[in-house]
Amino acid sequence: MEEKREMASEKSKILVFGGTGYIGKYMVKASISLGHQTLVYSRPINHKTSPSKIQLCQEFVSMGATLIHGELEYDQIVTTIKKVDIVISTLAYPQVLDQLKIIDAIKTAGNIKRFLPSDFGVEEDTVKPLPPFQAFLDKKRAIRRAIEAAGIPYTFVSANAYGAYFVNFLLHPYEDVQEITVYGNGESKAILNYEEDIAMYTIKVANDPRTCNRIVIYRLPKNFITQNELISLWEKKTGRNFNRAFVSEEEIVKLSATLPPPQDVPVSIIHSIFIKGDLVNFELREDQIEVSELYPDYKYKSIDELLDIFLVDPPPPASAAFE
Ligand SMILES: NC(=O)c1ccc[n+]([C@@H]2O[C@H](COP(=O)([O-])OP(=O)(O)OC[C@H]3O[C@@H](n4cnc5c(N)ncnc54)[C@H](OP(=O)(O)O)[C@@H]3O)[C@@H](O)[C@H]2O)c1
Repeated sequence: MEEKREMASEKSKILVFGGTGYIGKYMVKASISLGHQTLVYSRPINHKTSPSKIQLCQEFVSMGATLIHGELEYDQIVTTIKKVDIVISTLAYPQVLDQLKIIDAIKTAGNIKRFLPSDFGVEEDTVKPLPPFQAFLDKKRAIRRAIEAAGIPYTFVSANAYGAYFVNFLLHPYEDVQEITVYGNGESKAILNYEEDIAMYTIKVANDPRTCNRIVIYRLPKNFITQNELISLWEKKTGRNFNRAFVSEEEIVKLSATLPPPQDVPVSIIHSIFIKGDLVNFELREDQIEVSELYPDYKYKSIDELLDIFLVDPPPPASAAFE
């Protein structure tokens, strides 16, 4: 059934903003691997560009992607958007409001079949986190509202927690640690999805008529896990035992209220995901779809399988520091 639907859908031309970034590179590779003509809009390379970004750009080109170098400048964005069908933004958080330029450009170009803004986290129209994270999400919500007001066909993706990113952050798998920090009592469920799967689902969702003007939530059933379960699973796989250093909810709430911006944001995100359980503590509404129900034949990596990646030496290149 799923195969038929995918075969029926024609291949699209997909433009990715922020494609050289942490999640963006997975999106670009997924788009190419699913057979779509893929364009990557990226800032010009200059003497400040890191060798790793230059190498990634070369890798994209060798895989068949087209690189468009430019600043987030309206006229060039319009020209580029006219060449594609679908726009996916994975721009960094500080650039979230720059997406207003992309929205204006999509309106002017008039040809885009689907726009996916840089969401990819908690379900921002549903959760009510501590004020610093709330303020962070307010900007993402403003982008959603601007897209709706412009009448642009959209899909809003709540990908939940990036799996490899948070395994790195929580377990420090490549460091010789004796102790692992546990936020709150470690008993709230979170959802940790592997980045490759997030990207593959996102490219499918972007091309799927069933997801037009809908919110899609990545609640992959095998990826619900508490911090305590994650540590126990890691202990089993590594044959090691770790001390657990518990940081109380009160302490996290206090830090969220006292740390200066932007340091108050990460602790507020931790509170939302790992203490309040904001990824799982609500029922899906009519307009929200769970992604694995759309593609039951797609075999995603479970959190158990994801941890196996971290047993392998050398480490995968995709670890990012939690800022
Ligand atoms: N669910 C989760 O667990 C989770 C975790 C982290 C982030 N996120 C979300 O994922 C999305 C993408 O975040 P990310 O961490 O992947 O992004 P990122 O790696 O920090 O950056 C993505 C890209 O944005 C572009 N960019 C950066 N600074 C820019 C600037 N000053 N002007 C113009 N472009 C700039 C860069 O592309 P070029 O250099 O090629 O132009 C960069 O590669 C965000 O919405 C973020 O909130 C979710």
